Amino acid sequence: MLRRSIFTSLMTIAVGAVGAGGAAAQEGVKVGLILPMTGQQASTGKQVAAGARLYVQQHGATVAGKKIELVIKDDATVPENSKRIAQELIVNDKVGFTAGFGITPSALSVAPLSTQARVPQLIMAAGTSIITERSPYIARTSFTMAQSSVIIADWAARNGINKVVTIVSDYGPGHDSEVSFKQRFGQAGGQVVGELRVPLMSPDFAPFLQRARDAGPDAIFVFVPAGQGGILVKQFIERGLDKAGIKLIGPGDVTDDDLLNGMGDAVLGTVTAHMYSALHPSEKNKAFVEAFKAANGFRPNFMAVGGYDGMHLVYEALKATNGATGGDALIAAMKGMKWESPRGPISIDPDTRDIIQNIYVRKVEKVAGELYNVEFDTFEAVKDPVKLATMQN
Ligand code: PHB
Repeated sequence: MLRRSIFTSLMTIAVGAVGAGGAAAQEGVKVGLILPMTGQQASTGKQVAAGARLYVQQHGATVAGKKIELVIKDDATVPENSKRIAQELIVNDKVGFTAGFGITPSALSVAPLSTQARVPQLIMAAGTSIITERSPYIARTSFTMAQSSVIIADWAARNGINKVVTIVSDYGPGHDSEVSFKQRFGQAGGQVVGELRVPLMSPDFAPFLQRARDAGPDAIFVFVPAGQGGILVKQFIERGLDKAGIKLIGPGDVTDDDLLNGMGDAVLGTVTAHMYSALHPSEKNKAFVEAFKAANGFRPNFMAVGGYDGMHLVYEALKATNGATGGDALIAAMKGMKWESPRGPISIDPDTRDIIQNIYVRKVEKVAGELYNVEFDTFEAVKDPVKLATMQN
């Protein structure tokens, strides 16, 4: 009798343990990171994934009683792949969030699925204004192109630049950069004397730089996506534009921290506007850069902070819902969230689910033998100017 009851209670404990283990495994939350880990924009995938991993490493893999699992999938910079992968992650893997999105077309291709499935979609990298309007389940921790384009427009107009040619990548973020720069620069009294658009894939900037040079501008405003700045700068120098006294300005994608050190001293003095520099002088950023370098062996760029902060949104939203998934509650929790990022103070606009952040004007300088974007002016709490203009109309 006694033996049987001991046996029975042992069995109960064993079954209980198996049951609890099964339940705990089921209660994990998967975050599906859809990123270009290969293909032209692979540097973005590398940076965003490293930022997201670092956040999990520093904050522990359990939040609100849920085990967080990062599932990293390579879309190879092809938007159709992003969509197929999102479908699989939502239907088969039952992810609580999709996240990442290295280029605008990838983010846009997934938006209808996010709405249908009511799964939050976190934009950690792409920068076209319209993205957040494509689904009520989208929130963004990256940036919008107009945030920095209007600020560099004002800076240029105040600093003796009157005539500009724009050269942008021919897709969403390039168009947003070109249009918002031109409008603001015009208002500030400047003149855009040429607008050139370069194919996104396998770009050859040389003929465009030549045409820009022929127009005799004071500066060339450039938007290229992260990872392409190296080739643009190389061709800029090869064509002698720097020696001709033509300045290079733009959003800071072109002087990307990932590539900056390899660009050489010819980029010294280049002024751009952006939301992140690896040299941002805060305690939070110093600790971030140190830990990031220790974990990865390379410098974080602006994409890495998008990944890091995107994971902060995941963690804080889950805390707010007590670990419950479901897009409506999670997105509601994200609206209005404020925190200190390595880039400075940021928040999620409760009206648009887009990011509000400081934009810094920076100059490339040599610090301790390395090239950095050194911030020298700050514009606080900048909202996406494109959405602001629409809301005011
Ligand atoms: C985008 O595709 O939206 C994008 C990609 C890289 C950038 C900026 C924007 O650096």
